[in-house]
Amino acid sequence: MKKVTVAVDGPAGSGKSSVSRRVAVDLGLMYIDSGAIYRSITWYVLRRDGSVTPDFVFTGDIGELKIEQEFTGDGASLTSVNGVDVSVLIRDEVIARNIGIISDNVDVRNFVNVLLRKWTKSRSIIMDGRDIGSVVFPDADLKIYLDASVEVRAGRRMKEYLDLGKNVDENLIKKQIIQRDEQDRRRPYGALVRAHDAVYVDTSCMTMQQVIDHIKDLVLHIGQ
Ligand code: CDP
Repeated sequence: MKKVTVAVDGPAGSGKSSVSRRVAVDLGLMYIDSGAIYRSITWYVLRRDGSVTPDFVFTGDIGELKIEQEFTGDGASLTSVNGVDVSVLIRDEVIARNIGIISDNVDVRNFVNVLLRKWTKSRSIIMDGRDIGSVVFPDADLKIYLDASVEVRAGRRMKEYLDLGKNVDENLIKKQIIQRDEQDRRRPYGALVRAHDAVYVDTSCMTMQQVIDHIKDLVLHIGQ
């Protein structure tokens, strides 16, 4: 297969990450989790300042952070900040609560975009996020916009929490999903949009395997 860049965007709970990982493993691509970078910067600022406040500004120390990501053969990705493995730490709810200010910041976004583009210079990759097809790789070989109804996405999040043994209120999850959609779509820079040349996949009535197979077919087609 020739070198390909695949951009996968979509709202929270649309299955971007799970699907992209499996496609990457099956087709031998490198998977890059752009959300983990925003999470890592949030983790760093929280550790540095104790909180993320609306007057947050991008400082030199953030620009010098050594953020690295490794994709393991079994589909997991490891993210580190200045040599500290933050892969598990960044999945905390406190990160999700504070990430909005960080991911809305244009200097942060520019910093992350430079990093993401650097990582993909010589490899075939599949990257998921909100603005990958629109801003990070407007010339991607394949752009996919994964979607699903709010109800289905809330149900998937519920299942994830239940699988982790956490008891959660379905209405609360639904509310959070609607709130995240708003935030992602209203962001001044790098908002979640469906690129005009993205393949739209509504996964509401599809199994995960069906979505994976569909994306694999699309990737194999452009990689010929
Ligand atoms: O897994 P989930 O979709 O919930 O989130 P994520 O991909 O880990 O991303 C975490 C947060 O970073 C989200 O709230 C997005 O708004 C933000 N993000 C972003 O602004 N741009 C990206 N390219 C990826 C994530």
